[in-house]
Amino acid sequence: MRVFILSLCIITCFFGCKQPEKEIVTAKEELVYDMYQPSEMANLMNEMYAQNLKVKEDILNGIVPEEFPLDFLKIHSAELSEFKSRNETFQSFSKLFIESEKEIFNTESQVPIEERYNNTINLCISCHQTECTGPISRIQKLLIK
Ligand code: HEC
Repeated sequence: MRVFILSLCIITCFFGCKQPEKEIVTAKEELVYDMYQPSEMANLMNEMYAQNLKVKEDILNGIVPEEFPLDFLKIHSAELSEFKSRNETFQSFSKLFIESEKEIFNTESQVPIEERYNNTINLCISCHQTECTGPISRIQKLLIK
């Protein structure tokens, strides 16, 4: 009987102690999640991703994209995450990228549209190789094979 009560105590204590610990952990996780605020640049990047995915679908469906999304120009001014800086490499890549993206919408260009589009996506990737390698595998999915 004693052994039974003892083990009952141990079990209650074990679960009694485990439970709250788990709750604390989830509460912390939620806190961290709530505190994550994507930078203006991160939001712009996600928008550029979505827009280019749409352009890719249009090209594959034989629709000629005509209107350059002016929002993309925000790449020159959007605020970056705290730990990143707008250095010279970033600035020259953003210029090249914007020029190339504009070419996609140049209906008078002699260069095949798939090529103009892929050149642009490769510039997304080049800039990312210099400082933000995380999203590269995602961006590669935008390329027209
Ligand atoms: C001039 C450099 C440069 C170019 C060009 C560029 N990126 Fe980025 N990208 C960055 C930087 C820097 C960040 C990190 C932004 C931050 O955290 O403030 C980023 C972040 C991202 C992210 C992650 C956003 C998030 O939620 O954290 C994605 C996705 C992305 N870029 C996709 C693209 C795509 C698609 C293109 C081309 C259409 C592109 N990028 C072109 C520099 C660039």
